[in-house]
Amino acid sequence: MTIRALHVASELYPLLKTGGLADVAGALPSALIERGADVRVLLPGFPAVLAGLGDLQTVAQLGSRFGAPDVTLERGTLPTNGLTVYVISAASLYDRPGNPYLNDEHVPYGDNAQRFALLGWVAAQLAQQLDPTWSPQIVHAHDWHAGLAPAYLKAAEREHGRAPARSVFTIHNLAYQGIFPAHQFGLLGLPHDFFNMRGVEFYGQLSFLKAGLYYSDRITTVSPNYAREIQTLAHGGGLDGLLRHRAHDLSGILNGVDYTVWNPATDALLATHYSASRLAGKLACKEALQKRFGLAPRSDALLFGVVSRLTEQKGLDLLLGAVPEIVKRGGQLVVFGTGDPALETGLKMVAQAHPESVAVELGFDEALAHTIIAGSDVVAVPSRFEPCGLTQLYALAYGSLPLVHSVGGLADTVADASLENLADDLATGFVFERFDPKGLAAAIRRAFALYGRRTEWKATQRRAMREDFGWGASAERYLALYQELV
Ligand code: ADP
Ligand code: GLC
Repeated sequence: MTIRALHVASELYPLLKTGGLADVAGALPSALIERGADVRVLLPGFPAVLAGLGDLQTVAQLGSRFGAPDVTLERGTLPTNGLTVYVISAASLYDRPGNPYLNDEHVPYGDNAQRFALLGWVAAQLAQQLDPTWSPQIVHAHDWHAGLAPAYLKAAEREHGRAPARSVFTIHNLAYQGIFPAHQFGLLGLPHDFFNMRGVEFYGQLSFLKAGLYYSDRITTVSPNYAREIQTLAHGGGLDGLLRHRAHDLSGILNGVDYTVWNPATDALLATHYSASRLAGKLACKEALQKRFGLAPRSDALLFGVVSRLTEQKGLDLLLGAVPEIVKRGGQLVVFGTGDPALETGLKMVAQAHPESVAVELGFDEALAHTIIAGSDVVAVPSRFEPCGLTQLYALAYGSLPLVHSVGGLADTVADASLENLADDLATGFVFERFDPKGLAAAIRRAFALYGRRTEWKATQRRAMREDFGWGASAERYLALYQELV
């Protein structure tokens, strides 16, 4: 039996992307379709989304909703792979350029509750035949932006005596909880008693994330290790109690890599290609990277690269403290990202102090991200916490050995170049246990030491490149979950 599933998300590569959520939303539906499921996606009508879809057709007129006049539901196709995408057109809520969540001052938009309630509400309507030609059996909601979808489904179930669809809620990041003042609950059109400790109420406020966790039939998160971590007081963000309560419905399914986008042998964004059996081209990628960032053209300098959102989560403040160690040992560092203004300034200052060895550029650019992942010897991901992490998986595929903190999905995907792991042919990168300067410095020293033993370095690169983190196994697990539910 073909299962019909609707994925509900706020971003999707290649239409709109601020982080890994977009990569997952862009790749998982296709992986499920390849395995026989009938999957469509629902997105808010941000300008980049409307502009990037082909043959848009109006499916339904929804009138005035959540403060927006003339809301419509459109349906189009993604030109790159033919995926069917539903998109909510509501200009007064979504027609804003730039970041989909924050205004120019990096502050969340004041009407985010309405903007994303509409997303969840339309998802639940689609499960109730809003499109007469197709309706999902599974609504698969991603992160807090889609967290109200399971709540609206539950409300419909109560009203009609049967559930319009079953729901899966995937946590990509428990740190973003979609919290709004209690008085905004009235805007949502949910039954009054949903504002309850057993419901969307969270310490006197309203939480979209909690709604997803509370009302969905199954909860997943993006790595097995993070699934365990979030059930602890230390990493549960105040929701560990609820997550422990729902432990039987919670599973960790590792994110995958879309190897049609991230493959050094075919990467359309690289000038030179290479593979595990023909590594030579990687040196040209390194030279191109050094040139692009104005670093000394030293092929023997161990080059560390970072491509990241610049937030507290990513631990780059810790990496900044290790810059003297990297420079003293003759290494180089490239950081590319955007985010927290204070972190941006701190990074810029360190780069100014070491112009030959450290380069920092602020911005968001897909091609440059590929240039850095390919050209670096080491890709650093020293995150405080990391639900899954994709850049370390891309780094593995590109033979750019990841240096990571042993948390979340990072711990699940990278094996440290310890003596034991090297002897057992298991090492694929550098892993530090304790999030402190000593732990990081020791991992950096292990990277320099291995780099000095070129044969072993190359063997480790090849091993990393041959690992399979494709979507296959994980897509099968999502399908099994859907099957269980319908
Ligand atoms: P997160 O979702 O927490 O940001 P992930 O590692 O899961 O972390 O995914 C990050 C994604 O965003 C990767 O595809 C990465 O290449 C991309 N990315 C992050 N910062 C930038 C940037 N400044 N420019 C281009 N791509 C970026
Ligand atoms: C989040 C997490 C990241 C994860 C991504 C995709 O943004 O921070 O670890 O890889 O979502 O699931």
